[in-house]
Amino acid sequence: MKIPLCKPSIDEKELNLIKKSIKTGWLTHGPENVKFESNFNKLINSKYSISMNSCTSALECAIKCLEKKGEIIVPSFTWVSSANAIINTGCKPVFVDIDPITRNIDSKRIEKLISKSTIAIMVVHFAGLPCEMNKILKICKKYKLHLIEDSAETLGASFRGRYTGSFGIGCFSFFPTKNITTTEGGMLTLSNKKMYNKAKKLIAHGITKSKKDAWKRIALLPGHNYRLPNHLAALGNSQLKKLQKFNKKRLNLANKYTQHFLKFSNLILVPKVPKNFTHVFQMYTIRVLKGLRNNFVYYLNNKGISASVHFDPPLHQQKIYSKYRRGNLKSTNILSKQIATLPIYPDMKKKEIEYIIKTVSKWYRKNK
Ligand SMILES: Cc1ncc(COP(=O)(O)O)c(C=O)c1O
Repeated sequence: MKIPLCKPSIDEKELNLIKKSIKTGWLTHGPENVKFESNFNKLINSKYSISMNSCTSALECAIKCLEKKGEIIVPSFTWVSSANAIINTGCKPVFVDIDPITRNIDSKRIEKLISKSTIAIMVVHFAGLPCEMNKILKICKKYKLHLIEDSAETLGASFRGRYTGSFGIGCFSFFPTKNITTTEGGMLTLSNKKMYNKAKKLIAHGITKSKKDAWKRIALLPGHNYRLPNHLAALGNSQLKKLQKFNKKRLNLANKYTQHFLKFSNLILVPKVPKNFTHVFQMYTIRVLKGLRNNFVYYLNNKGISASVHFDPPLHQQKIYSKYRRGNLKSTNILSKQIATLPIYPDMKKKEIEYIIKTVSKWYRKNK
């Protein structure tokens, strides 16, 4: 049996929606985007949302909206985009360690890294679990820092009833592996009107129309083309309606894995969902102990299961980012050698998850 790591759920109705949308003649940002943004606002309880071509673009826009340059504290245990957005906007990442249980930013380690140059904290909600936002908000308030949430991996999850992306400036991804997909795509969420107006300009070349002459465009700032086309926003609208169903299926699959793997705790540690948190399992990640992680992943791969690793190496171990290392990243170093990702997607069939559980159990019996 061949089982992919992730599989987007796009049905025939949605393919027809895309076709219908293209036939309207709106091939770039259009009415579907307006709907998508309004639906997104309602979903996460945000004031403003801007649909974009990727989360990476959203992260860059978020930083540019701060209108200052300096250091941004960010976990090293993340996808390259988090740090790239910081560097590409003329800022400097400062890597912070994670909590090995939640795999999210360790709030106890943030304050030591704050300097005169710090302008923001970028949290990364890893694999579907929100960060401990109460503690992070307190630090932001105390030191007057901006908060950016890289919520690429977490759409629809909440901390104490509040959705990720609504605490600070939220950045979401609709890449095919994420909780919903628009093929490529992303969303920026904001509560500040001035920032919203700036971001709207940034995503569409930084221009505005002249009030007098219809043909005239006035360049206000050096912008980008970060727009999401109308037909992909149409797909996003349909996907958004299915988000609860998708996330429920992910949660059921995760519970099934956890229920079976709990008894393997001398070799495999399952993800924990702390009280007051909801988890949307964009990924199901386990910790494989005793230096057996690579052996585990290769074993599954050889059995046709596309298990993978997120993230090894962590960013501070990559040559191009190593100069941004400051302080102790012990948990990141340990976890990156233990973490393994198992397939999870809403359309996973019963026989597929059973095969994965059976294969993992066989591996356990061989190695315990
Ligand atoms: C934590 C994190 N940030 C950013 C991104 C980038 O998202 P996109 O591919 O939409 O730019 C990803 C995607 O993999 C991610 O996992």
